[in-house]
Amino acid sequence: MPNQTTTRISPEDIQRQNDLCRQIAQLQHSLDTPPLALVQTYGCQQNEADSERLRGYLAQMGFGFTQDPEQARIVVINTCAIRDHAERKVLGNVGALVHTKRSHPDQIICLCGCMAQEPEVAEKIKKSFRHVDLVFGPQALWRFPEFVHTLLTRRGRIFEVADEPGSIAEGIPMVRQDPVKAWVSVMYGCNNFCSYCIVPYVRGRERSRQPEDILAEVRELVQNGCRDVTLLGQNVNSYGKDLESPLDFSDLLEEINKIPGDFLIRFMTSHPKDATQKLFETMARCEKIAPVLHLPFQAGNDRILKAMNRHYDRAQYLDEIRRLRALLPDIVLTSDVIVGFPGETTPEFEETLTLLEEVRFDALFTFLYSPRPGTPAAKLDDPMPREEKLQNFNRLVELQNQISAQKHAAYLGSVQRCLVDGLCEDGEWTLTARTPGNRLVRLNGPEDLIGQFVPVKITGANTWSLFGEL
Ligand code: SAH
Ligand code: SF4
Ligand code: F3S
Repeated sequence: MPNQTTTRISPEDIQRQNDLCRQIAQLQHSLDTPPLALVQTYGCQQNEADSERLRGYLAQMGFGFTQDPEQARIVVINTCAIRDHAERKVLGNVGALVHTKRSHPDQIICLCGCMAQEPEVAEKIKKSFRHVDLVFGPQALWRFPEFVHTLLTRRGRIFEVADEPGSIAEGIPMVRQDPVKAWVSVMYGCNNFCSYCIVPYVRGRERSRQPEDILAEVRELVQNGCRDVTLLGQNVNSYGKDLESPLDFSDLLEEINKIPGDFLIRFMTSHPKDATQKLFETMARCEKIAPVLHLPFQAGNDRILKAMNRHYDRAQYLDEIRRLRALLPDIVLTSDVIVGFPGETTPEFEETLTLLEEVRFDALFTFLYSPRPGTPAAKLDDPMPREEKLQNFNRLVELQNQISAQKHAAYLGSVQRCLVDGLCEDGEWTLTARTPGNRLVRLNGPEDLIGQFVPVKITGANTWSLFGEL
């Protein structure tokens, strides 16, 4: 039975927020020059997508955009809580804003995103970062205009960080960063509670958007020239479980694949415990689904996987990869790994290395374990010295670099249908492009190719990228 627990914000409530945007725009109408906003984003694609919504609201409020905090009437810092290092960087940057605020006392400083939802962080901002005016968690993002309106019309600070299961809000305007590639959230939140991870605590419970809303958004993007759509969710494979409609993620992919137009469909992240044979078959059948899968395995040892609360073991993971490759032999595979989970011994870590050798991923995102307050893993004994963890980490990176370089070398001489996606910042090359499997290619060519699929002959390769010619 589908459970229908997802709370949906009513269209009237979103309308009220959009009306407030217009009122704010009127308030600012008398200014000599249009006010500017700075939106700084940390963390994953979910946060990038949220920042596109924040910019959408800000544009409706009449703001232009700047990268310079000195020029900004409003600064919005959209934060990530996944690791301690990310948090410290954010707090450093927020601390530095005390100086800009001193020279521009009417500047509004906002901190939002995943860190804002951590009670310790909100408390710290309240006490020690008194120049921050507004703090709100991801669950309150849809009410951003109301917060800004209050700050502009009366003094005081706002903290909207109540622990909520979360809701779905449709109709928030967006300013997208990239006309060629777009993020489309299909669901929000996470129910998995991997023992090391803070996301379920800060992003609320799993909830799916209605398929019609997702399909309408993709259709509009494709009509406007978007060529690469990435569907987002912490675990896209549980899409639809909370909907009345019997559609699952594979069915949703199938529906998106039917939308007319020349574009690629990607998605992330898939949890191995929920990646089904049906998903693999759908990927093999639908011509618009890019031949790439990001399937985080986190650790190669079964005891550690269990302690991580991942609900699969090494053999099941390897079996999934085998079944997927049987259907799609050339699929590009990427993954996430954590090194130094509490209690992981070096022999256990070495099973991560052997898993790498067995699967031979095209690319890997490697993380050193970082204890997150409030998660079960943070309470575990963690006897391994940091130096040993770092040594293991370096062994992992070295092995993966070798594999990535070999995988890239195999492209030499081939012709790939690449999507040209932007200007290259590296002086020698003018353009960047992506293979269907999302490998980066640098090449030379005219700027007007951006947004087009072109055949590229691969003439060079290293660990991180490919080089080619038209
Ligand atoms: N929902 C996605 C992952 C989101 S977080 C999934 O399940 O795959 C992205 C990655 O950050 C995770 O895959 C994990 O490898 C890493 N990560 C999460 N919590 C971490 C922590 N406490 N320390 C180190 N890495 C962590
Ligand atoms: Fe975190 Fe696990 Fe959820 Fe991914 S699936 S967001 S790693 S709890
Ligand atoms: Fe970070 Fe939140 Fe994403 S913690 S990784 S920004 S979901």
